[in-house]
Amino acid sequence: MTHAFGASPGSEPPFHDVVRTTPATRGFTSDPLPDDVLHRILDGARFAPSGGNRQGWRVIVVRDRATRRRLRDLYQLAWREYIGHVAEGKVPFAPGSDRRWTEPSIDIDAARSTARPNPFADSLDDVPVMLVVVVDLTVLAVLDNGLDRQSIVGGGSIYPFCHNILLGARAEGYGGVLTTAICREEDAVRHLLAIPDPYAVAGLMALGRPVREIRRLRREPVERFTTVDRFDGPTFTV
Ligand SMILES: Cc1cc2nc3c(=O)[nH]c(=O)nc-3n(C[C@H](O)[C@H](O)[C@H](O)COP(=O)(O)O)c2cc1C
Repeated sequence: MTHAFGASPGSEPPFHDVVRTTPATRGFTSDPLPDDVLHRILDGARFAPSGGNRQGWRVIVVRDRATRRRLRDLYQLAWREYIGHVAEGKVPFAPGSDRRWTEPSIDIDAARSTARPNPFADSLDDVPVMLVVVVDLTVLAVLDNGLDRQSIVGGGSIYPFCHNILLGARAEGYGGVLTTAICREEDAVRHLLAIPDPYAVAGLMALGRPVREIRRLRREPVERFTTVDRFDGPTFTV
């Protein structure tokens, strides 16, 4: 097992390296991620921005074996739905050309009953750290509510926090992944974890020591997505 950085105390990597080398890590060694490290990771993540600085997040550290197994089973159902879409060349649950999602574009029941073996989904109950991140809907200022399209703004008050967890884990020599597939099973998750009414499930996160060395992430260059003055304006470059 090798790490690009962060494996020993005092070897904190520069920010520039952390943001460029924080992948979705789904394969973990059996090394534990100690509670004091997890606390430090969360202690950094809490500086994430949120609309009106309302910090509507709550984190549930899931340790109970039976609860973990149940979450794994729920995740697998959602994973089957996800892969069912991908197998038919569709973006799972993406809004249509009318900018809204109305109904599944695949046979959901068939997808849920088709096994889709996957190393991460199948061993999810064994990850070193499992977090369920929930958010208080009543404190979200969702400025695009009521527009004639799918709303996206609310997520901006919770996913920076989630990404800070991944960045923090990376800086400590660990890795992780944010998953949202589990949101398909929100009612069951809320019941299982006694999550009260105004809270929504934002995601399930897995953290641990990565099995593989971090690779270069595949991302588009700035020039690919930045223009000046107009969407169809000249490319921003230096
Ligand atoms: C909002 C969001 C939801 C995601 N949901 C899942 C998920 O349900 N399951 C999963 O395995 N990965 C999930 N991911 C991880 C993405 O697949 C990953 O960030 C992307 O493929 C880039 O991977 P890389 O950083 O390793 O290149 C999610 C990421 C984001 C930002």
